[in-house]
Amino acid sequence: MILGIETSCDETSVALLERDGTVRINHIASQIERHQPFGGVVPEIASREHLQHLFPLVHRALEDAHASFDDVESIAVTSGPGLIGALLVGVAGAQGLAYGLGVPIVSINHLEGHIFSPYLQKEGPALPLPARFLALVISGGHSSIYDVRNGNVQMLNRTRDDAIGETFDKVAKFVGLPYPGGPQIEKHAREGRADPKRFAFPVPQFKDDSADFSYSGIKAAAIRFAREHEIHAGGDAQLLADFCATFQDALFAQLFDRLQTIWSRLRASRETMPSDLAIAGGVAANGVLRERVGEWGRAHDVIVRLPEKRYCTDNAAMIAFAGLQRLSTAGDPRRVTARSRIG
Ligand code: KG4
Ligand code: ZN
Repeated sequence: MILGIETSCDETSVALLERDGTVRINHIASQIERHQPFGGVVPEIASREHLQHLFPLVHRALEDAHASFDDVESIAVTSGPGLIGALLVGVAGAQGLAYGLGVPIVSINHLEGHIFSPYLQKEGPALPLPARFLALVISGGHSSIYDVRNGNVQMLNRTRDDAIGETFDKVAKFVGLPYPGGPQIEKHAREGRADPKRFAFPVPQFKDDSADFSYSGIKAAAIRFAREHEIHAGGDAQLLADFCATFQDALFAQLFDRLQTIWSRLRASRETMPSDLAIAGGVAANGVLRERVGEWGRAHDVIVRLPEKRYCTDNAAMIAFAGLQRLSTAGDPRRVTARSRIG
């Protein structure tokens, strides 16, 4: 089996996968409650929590899998991007384990973990990766579309400022909703007969016809609007519901706008088109988005792969799975370095 370790942000996670991608164990110790009073992740607290939970979680994972350290053939660990102190705990822990057990380490880019995650199954072996697929990674730290060919990942766009999940979180925080804001906004958007057209937020376009995302404009507009109309948790519930629905819609409108641009450009290139569109990251847990992506896929004759909700937010199963794709790079534990930024 391959042991996966993820500590890049606010979840300590340990997973055990079989070689065919079957997830035997995917344990997650979430720190959300520890960070909630601060309205966001506090790096120092995150590192300390990882330190406290990592090894007990490794032991529990082996115990629950009725396995022992002898069954661990390799270790996949997130080496970046993420909070440096948090990453260091996972990397140093993985290095110690790998060195002690005499097994190699596969150093994993957290984003690649997300990119492949839609192919993991709730039970049984993972789905085979298609020769070419598009991956949309939307999380608290990232918003990008990737072209993945034979496992090689090429970034097609990125956000010029805030990530989409971060925008959800910041606006939610401004109106007094608890962290993390994404699920809260989704919940309130569903309440009452929320009207997503009640307030208009524009889809920003760049002069250089780039397909990049930009969420800071929507964030600023939403905060200005909420301030002017005194929208806040505990206030006028219908107003809050309409605000959340409209704001959520604006975030997704931009997502589809850029996806469409990229798709049209790929079409024009006359190469073999991607067979799948894989959506990953915490925001992929959003029910409204999941429905809309399904519709988009049907309209464009592309298979939509959505991760199981448990594999959307940060988890070690996806890191171990990326490790299986990158087994050829497994090597000396001493060579792995934690990096807060990559590329
Ligand atoms: O992938 P993830 O766990 O961590 C990062 O790598 O960032 O993503 C967390 C992000 C948070 O911003 C959270 O608000 C967002 O995912 N999120 C959602 C939903 N569930 C989580 N956003 C919108 N709707 C949701 N249901
Ligand atoms: Zn993530």
